[in-house]
Amino acid sequence: MSNETLQAIRGMNDILPDEAELWLWFEEVVRDWLASYGYRNIRMPLVEPTGLFKRAIGEVTDIVEKEMYSFEDSLNGDQLTLRPEGTASCVRAVLQHNLLYNAPQRLYYSGPMFRHERPQKGRYRQFHQVGVEALGFTGPDIDAEQILMCARLWKKLGLSDVTLQLNTLGDAEARLRHRAKLIAYFEQNLALLDAEAVRRLHSNPLRILDSKNPAMQAMIEAAPKLMAELDEAALTHFAAVQAILTQHGVAFEINPRLVRGLDYYNRTVFEWVTTRLGAQGTICAGGRYDGLLEQIGGKAAPAMGFAMGIERLLVLLQEAGMPLPKPKIDVYVVHQGELAANLAFVLAEQLRDLGLRVILHCGGGSFKSQMKKADASGAKLAAVIGDDEAAVNEVSLKPMQGGAQIRVSVQNIGATINKLIKQE
Ligand code: HAM
Repeated sequence: MSNETLQAIRGMNDILPDEAELWLWFEEVVRDWLASYGYRNIRMPLVEPTGLFKRAIGEVTDIVEKEMYSFEDSLNGDQLTLRPEGTASCVRAVLQHNLLYNAPQRLYYSGPMFRHERPQKGRYRQFHQVGVEALGFTGPDIDAEQILMCARLWKKLGLSDVTLQLNTLGDAEARLRHRAKLIAYFEQNLALLDAEAVRRLHSNPLRILDSKNPAMQAMIEAAPKLMAELDEAALTHFAAVQAILTQHGVAFEINPRLVRGLDYYNRTVFEWVTTRLGAQGTICAGGRYDGLLEQIGGKAAPAMGFAMGIERLLVLLQEAGMPLPKPKIDVYVVHQGELAANLAFVLAEQLRDLGLRVILHCGGGSFKSQMKKADASGAKLAAVIGDDEAAVNEVSLKPMQGGAQIRVSVQNIGATINKLIKQE
């Protein structure tokens, strides 16, 4: 066996304790925010049958064609995939457990997703999303509410550099008409298409509109517009979403080229973008997927959702000057001598009974070196126990930010500690 130090897989990151403080803080903010809109948590497996993603996301998408971590279960030969996103799994779970039987559902999940992309800043192979799905709602109210929700979160997080891009993809019939016109148009311009576009010409012509190839931009700009094919119902829906956003002061830009990289969308689609993260500027994206439930074998029901990339959001927060939150420790217990060690154990447990966060010094060492550790821990107080104190069941409390040391009996320590901590 090689002695080489083992490394994490490229594009799959460790989140070390200092940074994890930020994640914990963020997760708490997000939990409160979701609860304030009545969304409830759902947790799905990280691994699903490959067929689920093929059917939901679409065979001719970057995700399904090139980015999925798929493998054969060596025990039974099943084709499995590490989830590249959460919507397909969430819908599968809702259908499997008949959650839509009597009532629509507002659900959210969070956790790792896996895509075999080329890693760069803001783009990873294991990344984390918070996903939000409202199932059983026809909109446009829920569409607008989800977008307003995002705006509220950005405000709560203190993010100002994010803008909203909005589009409608219309309904299936309009998209079929548009697709036929697009194919005809691209066939007329065959000489201008790159290899990727030629490959997608008949399988997924809409995605050609998403191409970043500068040589194709003018031709794409002049391509037939979906907007021209939309029927009255889809246009009314889109207008109503915009009206609610405007009424609530949420600015947006209509971007007719916003088509999204997953095939399940119809009508409202949106992305929140920032220019502060370079090429990976989309921090949150989603839309309506009224056809998906039926497409994966359930009874038809309308739905709308979005997901945000946690890594991107946290980088954005830090770039906006947000400091890493500090761990919150109330008391660090310093002790020396056998009698003192016994009392230190008792004291630490007693303080935890009071709801305090306590580090009991372990591993010995001089008072001086223990005090250094107490300082580095960020604790508000050091509780110091030497043989003197232990002999009379007392503790010396020392505020770490300065202030007089006071000696108190272990029995009455709760009130004194609470007072000292509140003064901090
Ligand atoms: P998505 O646009 O593929 O949509 O991903 C949503 C967000 O996840 C992106 O805007 C981005 O912030 C983050 N993200 C995606 N790929 C990566 C990556 N490789 N590294 C870091 N962050 C990434 C969906 O996944 C849909 N399921 C959203 C949805 C929910 N639509 C309806 N409901």
